[in-house]
Amino acid sequence: MQDFLRRLPKIELHLHIEGSLEPELMFALAERNSITLPYASVGEAKAAYQFKDLQGFLNLYYQGMNVLCHEQDFFDLAMDYFKRASSEGVVHIDMHFDPQAHLQRGIALDVVMAGLLRAKEEAEQTLDLSVGLIMAFLRDRPADEALQVLEQAAPYWKLLDAIGLDSAERDHPPSKFVAVFNRAKEIGLARVAHAGEEGPAAYILEALDMLDVCRIDHGIRCLESDEVVDRLYEQQTVLTVCPLSNTSLKVVDELIDHPLPALLDKGLNVTISSDDPAYFGGGLLANHIACAEAFGWDEDAFVELNRNAITEAFTSESRRQELL
Ligand code: HPA
Ligand code: ZN
Repeated sequence: MQDFLRRLPKIELHLHIEGSLEPELMFALAERNSITLPYASVGEAKAAYQFKDLQGFLNLYYQGMNVLCHEQDFFDLAMDYFKRASSEGVVHIDMHFDPQAHLQRGIALDVVMAGLLRAKEEAEQTLDLSVGLIMAFLRDRPADEALQVLEQAAPYWKLLDAIGLDSAERDHPPSKFVAVFNRAKEIGLARVAHAGEEGPAAYILEALDMLDVCRIDHGIRCLESDEVVDRLYEQQTVLTVCPLSNTSLKVVDELIDHPLPALLDKGLNVTISSDDPAYFGGGLLANHIACAEAFGWDEDAFVELNRNAITEAFTSESRRQELL
């Protein structure tokens, strides 16, 4: 089964590129940029990756990305992940990135974009990998700031596939970002949002109704509301479910208790992703293997999940046909 899963062409719709920063690269970039890390060694960093909840993770996630200063750092970050993912059989990645987290540290948007776009181009030319770009907004920061960043990103609108909404979910409902998402729609950008990870099922409905998203990232708490499940079923809205993320952040106690099988039983449009692979114990292949072990799914089940993802991937029709 592990060989089958490794060889299976896999599609990842939910990946935060800053969350793919492995401790080894973090140390290399810290040295290159003369930054002092709060860890004495790679081992110590890995040992610190024990999270109580989403906020506990976000604290280390934002701290880790302090080593990203120059265009080359963003290029190295993305290329390091693309090569690793490609070697594990990943053929498409829709990649979130968090511009506000870098702007806040004095890193210009052009620096971030130049590095990520160059890595996307190189990956698409040298690996069997296509990459979609999702500019994500931090929901625990002011909506005005998100709108400003979206306007500032005008030179890049044509190169983006979608905007997203991430970071601390509790008490930051989708409704806070209606103006930003309306503007993105006006610009012609697709929209996705994290909802129903730590936040309630009602946030999923809000994201659908008020932000007009085509995709819900996580969404696992939909099972707390029949109304929300019915809506997701009727619309066949894709859910990007991240099993190892959910156990790492204690959204779910054990993988065996994960709602994935229940979501499939309800006929929902489920896909699997890794979210922040450097922090949650592995990438897309590791997530597939963990699901095979926990749920005893057969090969067809994984083919089906990846088919769901291909259909919804931010890529050209010709690439989609190639992957189907
Ligand atoms: N949830 C919300 N925001 C995030 C995550 C996540 O899992 N990873 C990076 N930003
Ligand atoms: Zn996420």
